[in-house]
Amino acid sequence: MSYPATLPWTLESLDLNRIEVDRVRQNEDLFLLLCSSSFVESGSDLYTHNLVDHFAGDDELQGWLRDHWEHEELQHGRALAAYVRHVWPEFDWDTGFRNFFAEYGAVCTAEELEDSRGLELAARCVVETGTASLYRALNDVTDEPVLRQLTNYIKSDEVRHYKHFYQHFRIYRDREKISRFKVFRALFKRVREIKNEDSDIALRHVFNIRYPDKATDDAEFRRVISRAEGLLKRHLPAEMTVKMLLKPLDLPPKVHTALEWPLTRITEKLFLH
Ligand SMILES: [Fe+2]
Ligand SMILES: [Fe+2]
Repeated sequence: MSYPATLPWTLESLDLNRIEVDRVRQNEDLFLLLCSSSFVESGSDLYTHNLVDHFAGDDELQGWLRDHWEHEELQHGRALAAYVRHVWPEFDWDTGFRNFFAEYGAVCTAEELEDSRGLELAARCVVETGTASLYRALNDVTDEPVLRQLTNYIKSDEVRHYKHFYQHFRIYRDREKISRFKVFRALFKRVREIKNEDSDIALRHVFNIRYPDKATDDAEFRRVISRAEGLLKRHLPAEMTVKMLLKPLDLPPKVHTALEWPLTRITEKLFLH
């Protein structure tokens, strides 16, 4: 695979040998979150191909998706996987990912995309909001220097992806004359899907490999996952998340301010179990 010269950072910028393993290895919650993220990111080429097809005729957006976005998302997966393998070498990443990919590939089809291009772009803004928030939270969780550097790189990429999707969303919103209500519906639907699909499937497969004797124990899975998500929740940059989520609605400033606090609470509930 060839890489575009414009990648803002590369795997080589990370010195895995400088990882202070003792600072992270005992943190099982962090392991679950990093490993499930590495699965989702590594599976993102499924989604990119669907999206590229969805925007046939829009050469600029298609070119960006193919030449930048896809490479960057896959690099997130590779870098996170390399980190996980280095700190938790006993974990069989390949088998876990293979199992995840088999299930994820079946649910991640073109039918999942919004018919309207503008609404699909609004939905993409939600996904990038979710990832930007996730990596900012993970950055806040840890004091391990290499992980801080990595999560900071990824977070900046996700914010940039958001901005790119948002710019194109505005073009299609005007072109397709999409009402604010329809945008709201698309945003809300996508927030619910984030919670239900990608991360849930990924966490399940991390759990099954990590705790093979408990692989069918649903109660134990929920217990372990909610503990990890509790950690995330305490570090969720709620204000940033809500601002990014609301932006595509283009609300008048007063309404925006009035909604911010209640939405911060709702967002925490929606993004996490
Ligand atoms: Fe990513
Ligand atoms: Fe992204």
